[in-house]
Amino acid sequence: MGKVKLPLKRGFGKTDRRDDWWKGPTAMAAYLGFMIIYATWRGFMESDFLFFSDFGASSCENWDSAKSFKDVSECQTMSIEQGSHVLSPLYSPLIFPQSSWIPIELWWMSPAMFILVFPAGFRGTCYYYRKAYYRAFFQQPTGCAVSKPWNEYSGERGILVVQNLHRMFMYIALIYLPILTYDFWLSINFHDSTGDYFGVSVGSLILLLNLILLSGYTFGCHAFRHVVGGGSNDWTGSTISRFKYKMWKFSTKLNERHKDWALISLFWVMFADFYIWICQDFGFTDFVLIGGL
Ligand code: FES
Repeated sequence: MGKVKLPLKRGFGKTDRRDDWWKGPTAMAAYLGFMIIYATWRGFMESDFLFFSDFGASSCENWDSAKSFKDVSECQTMSIEQGSHVLSPLYSPLIFPQSSWIPIELWWMSPAMFILVFPAGFRGTCYYYRKAYYRAFFQQPTGCAVSKPWNEYSGERGILVVQNLHRMFMYIALIYLPILTYDFWLSINFHDSTGDYFGVSVGSLILLLNLILLSGYTFGCHAFRHVVGGGSNDWTGSTISRFKYKMWKFSTKLNERHKDWALISLFWVMFADFYIWICQDFGFTDFVLIGGL
């Protein structure tokens, strides 16, 4: 049977719809566009590359030989060092380009460039984000029952089969959660020459909330929900199946608000990084609320 064309008005953005259908995709384009620009800027900031080498760690005299935070902690914007260690999530886990296992041609890169590819891949292939950016940036579609500028939608074929990697990115994203937990742990451990002390600063609370939001986003992932509950036709017969059922219910609950977890967690990652950046670059204090030195 041949294709049946719907009686749509023709011409970009033409439609019989009377609601403000364009508001959602426009707001999403602005939001995602801003986040992508900010993350790219910050990803380059600590690199030893063109004019970026005037900023951040690479402007340090000992950048070329730096192997750890301490070597560049005076001038880096990746973390706050005020007795404890509050690391920006954009740079976690911290991989210095000077590490011996990294090829010499990559020494100009910033630590963020080594690891941002995985969170970016996870979000870029996320089922929710795909819907959002296909509409916001590529007009595929422009909106339901709204005429679009390009050819008919032909599905996720060709280069877009790469979206099938989402489950792999999800497995990697799961590894980030214990790493971010460790970062939070470091942020509440204060040290000086007299010993180790527990403390909670504004920065550590920001990292904790970041961990909670990213956990909500990751455990509500459609692929995670399928891993824990897919292919099961027995929820009660064994301890494992009862555990799987509980996990599936938990993931389903989070999945119902996956859009919210996706958008708010993205904002909070950037905000956490922004807070650490301004504390380091503009001399603000990360207030210690409990304990500390
Ligand atoms: S579907 Fe959104 S993170 Fe997996």
